[in-house]
Amino acid sequence: MIHTVGWPTVRRPFFIDTDTASDDAVALVIALRHPDIDVVGIGIVAGNVPLDHGVQNALYVAELCDRTDVPVFAGEATPLRVPLETGQYVHGQDGMGDIGLPLSGRTPADGHAVDALLDASHRHAGELELVTLGPLTNIARAVERDPTLPDRLERVVVMGAVADHIGNQNPVAEFNMWVDPHAVDVVLRAGLPLEFVGWDISRTYAVMTPDDAAELRAIGTPIAEMCVDIQRVLSEFCATQTKLAGFDLPDPIAMAYAIDPAVATASRRLHCEVETESPLTRGMVVMDLLGFTGHAPNALVVTAADRDRFRSMLFAAVH
Ligand code: BDR
Ligand code: CA
Repeated sequence: MIHTVGWPTVRRPFFIDTDTASDDAVALVIALRHPDIDVVGIGIVAGNVPLDHGVQNALYVAELCDRTDVPVFAGEATPLRVPLETGQYVHGQDGMGDIGLPLSGRTPADGHAVDALLDASHRHAGELELVTLGPLTNIARAVERDPTLPDRLERVVVMGAVADHIGNQNPVAEFNMWVDPHAVDVVLRAGLPLEFVGWDISRTYAVMTPDDAAELRAIGTPIAEMCVDIQRVLSEFCATQTKLAGFDLPDPIAMAYAIDPAVATASRRLHCEVETESPLTRGMVVMDLLGFTGHAPNALVVTAADRDRFRSMLFAAVH
């Protein structure tokens, strides 16, 4: 979007699709509090947590950000073909670290997340930027219902996959892609303007060490404290399973890139396909790094990022 001195800033319309748990919550904070971004809707999908938990978590975050004007829509409760298997062992039973937050009793907007996305794509045709932070079930349903959706989207930033093919759900698959691989297949074939920010980017550029977390929390606002405290269960998972030096923030760095593409310092256009059947490699997004398939690229893949730029956006958001 062009910003011209003397003219009012035109805010960019974002629609966010999320399985709201602890890192999604931080990504929502970054978007909801950014002056250049107009979050026109939030769709919820089952993934990290069952659908109802995701709805309540997103409504809680919007309220904490004083953004109850942003509609939150419930979407798909199960993947297209496989049973739902959540990430509650990663983010807590409530998805928000099980720290006792009041995560019930709020009411989502009327209507379904898929309809809300399609409506927003008409209202903001050619300008809408879709950011997905969870499994792609709602997006697959949307393009199945209306194959012209890609024509109306400016871009689709997907937190998902791994460009180095080191997985966090099985040896080669990232969680969001693994939960609903058939939805990934639909999305990859739909002609959408896809931009992937994978878990490799999070693991490399978005790990918050205990010192980073303390510095963030010391900002002292309720939002800053929430952003750190809800990572309690995730921190244990990162220490024991993914062996990181702190907790990582995949959805927040994807959101930071969506808002400011300069967060990416390298990217490649690649042909991507997903494995849907193999129990060993389910959810692996195979990126044709050496051009074996001869197929034209169907996605831009971020391969390196600017950690400091991401950190600045995160810290600015929680003040
Ligand atoms: C992704 O999976 C979830 O656990 C996170 O919210 C993020 O969207 C990282 O692989
Ligand atoms: Ca997520």
